[in-house]
Amino acid sequence: MESKPNKSAFRAILSYGRPHRLAFVGIFFCSLLGIAAELSQPYLIKIVIDDHLAIGNTEIRFLMQVALIYLALSIISFIFTYIQNNLLQYTGQSIVASLRKDLFKHITKMSMSFFDRRHSGSLVTNVSSDTETISQFFTQVLLSLIRDGMMLVMIIFFMFQLDVTMAAYSLAVLPVIAIVAVLFRSYLRETYSQARTRLSRLVAFIAENLSGMFLIQAFHQEKEQLKQFGEQNGNYYSANIRQVRSNVIFNRTFDILGNIALVLMVWLGGQAVLGKALEVGVLYAFISYIRQFFGPINQITMQWNTFQSTTVSMERIWSILSTQPGVPDPSDNDKSSLRPEQVEGKITFNHVSFGYLADQPIIHNLNLTIQPGEMIGVVGTTGAGKSTVISLLNRFYDVTQGSVKIDNIDIRLLPQKTLHQIVGLIQQEPFLFSGSIIDNVRMFREEISREEVMSACRFVGADSMISRLSGGYDTHLSERGSGLSAGERQLISFARIVVFKPRILILDEATANLDSHTEQLVQSALDSVSVGRTTIVIAHRLSTVMHADRILVMRDGFIVESGTHHELMKRGGCYKELYDHALESGTDTKEHSHNDVG
Ligand SMILES: Nc1ncnc2c1ncn2[C@@H]1O[C@H](COP(=O)(O)OP(=O)(O)O)[C@@H](O)[C@H]1O
Ligand SMILES: [Mg+2]
Repeated sequence: MESKPNKSAFRAILSYGRPHRLAFVGIFFCSLLGIAAELSQPYLIKIVIDDHLAIGNTEIRFLMQVALIYLALSIISFIFTYIQNNLLQYTGQSIVASLRKDLFKHITKMSMSFFDRRHSGSLVTNVSSDTETISQFFTQVLLSLIRDGMMLVMIIFFMFQLDVTMAAYSLAVLPVIAIVAVLFRSYLRETYSQARTRLSRLVAFIAENLSGMFLIQAFHQEKEQLKQFGEQNGNYYSANIRQVRSNVIFNRTFDILGNIALVLMVWLGGQAVLGKALEVGVLYAFISYIRQFFGPINQITMQWNTFQSTTVSMERIWSILSTQPGVPDPSDNDKSSLRPEQVEGKITFNHVSFGYLADQPIIHNLNLTIQPGEMIGVVGTTGAGKSTVISLLNRFYDVTQGSVKIDNIDIRLLPQKTLHQIVGLIQQEPFLFSGSIIDNVRMFREEISREEVMSACRFVGADSMISRLSGGYDTHLSERGSGLSAGERQLISFARIVVFKPRILILDEATANLDSHTEQLVQSALDSVSVGRTTIVIAHRLSTVMHADRILVMRDGFIVESGTHHELMKRGGCYKELYDHALESGTDTKEHSHNDVG
């Protein structure tokens, strides 16, 4: 599914630059003018030296003119470099912003199996730092190629203009410099990546420790962890020192090389000047150009490294962008025209088999029909496959065999948007967005009125809880609703159901984390919301599902028993076993159980 070719990654990312062609042309010309202005300066001085000072021309007006031109050249160089830089940063950032947007949009379309295979942490890296590296490519690497490349070419051009022999001598040193630079750079790169690896290990270690802090403290592991931290920290420290040291050596070596080249110039050029074969001004200009020569070479070799990490980032991003969603939407021809509000709510599992991994089936040949408006309870031990069945109904994954149907229509023929309007899912930990309560209930759909939201909240009994909050309905929920209790968050997700009116309602252990008071609130919210809807309730506590029209007992991916509470109790099988076990350990809530146990 993931495509390997490096080239297509490169081309795909470069295509993001296409809308900015004009800007790149602008950048090119600004660089050209900026550099030309900068490099004309030594030439100007050469003219002063050779055409005036050396021949004893003392005309002050002329010197003033040259000084003014020199100043003007500096200002021109400054202005164009400034424009070029701004243009480049603007372009680079726009390119990366649109890349980030596409990437995020693409990730949200991925099926659940995609997220099983990738750590959310590495996806965060993809969206944030890989795109940042690509931004560096556009702003630094490309700039260096254009600007420094042009600068080298122009320096060489000026040199040959001045004196061919001297220019030839200068160019002879060039390969030496280039080789040293490249060799050193690859060594530097190694030390750099070592430091990076060690830093990321250190960060991972800290993150792991923070999330497991209570375990560390509970088991008195502080000393052991501190020791390990000390080691990691030391490793990072030494890698850093090594990197800094090689950096200094490299830069000094480069300086020395530059100076040697300079000395050679002065020696050879000086002899030529004494022999009257060369003008003093030309020697001066050469010395200036030699100095200016080293900057671009240094830059280009440095950018080469950035370029290499860019290609890695590009490939990583491309591997995401080129991954097709595992659960594709139906094509327009196959698409069912079923509208969410027409749905009766019949659910059929027809010979369904499924496994997360190809060789590990979890659900085996499941057959189940749920009538419109029926209330189904599902119980079973952890890992029995209850949530998996729900994921299949929501089409987070596709079945490997058989089919899942709603009102006799295969859900693969429904656009996913429609499917999610038909099926409302409430999980143990409802997802709240950062935003007001109103927006969280109506999912940022402005067309749903405030009154509608408030009446939904009243309907599910969330009203009194919300009015106790300082901002009422406008209270801003921070990340994932951290200011609210689990039950309160759950009530908000019930209000969502009332607002969006899905024909099928599913609760997957929605009440597992609640205290008995909140559970009662949620329970009565459920009683009101489930009227007239096909409802599937998966519950840990049997009391939650006792009143269901039908209870399914799951074990190892099979439905092993089904019937009403009384039928199943009479039968004396798995369900009764679970029930007795729950009574014994007292995990079931008493409020519901005492009046119902026959
Ligand atoms: N994303 C997943 N990838 C691989 N295996 C999974 C995944 N989710 C659940 N499983 C496995 O599938 C089986 C059924 O899990 P699940 O449906 O969550 O059970 P339940 O909800 O009944 O506790 C378990 O063995 C579990 O380990
Ligand atoms: Mg589960």
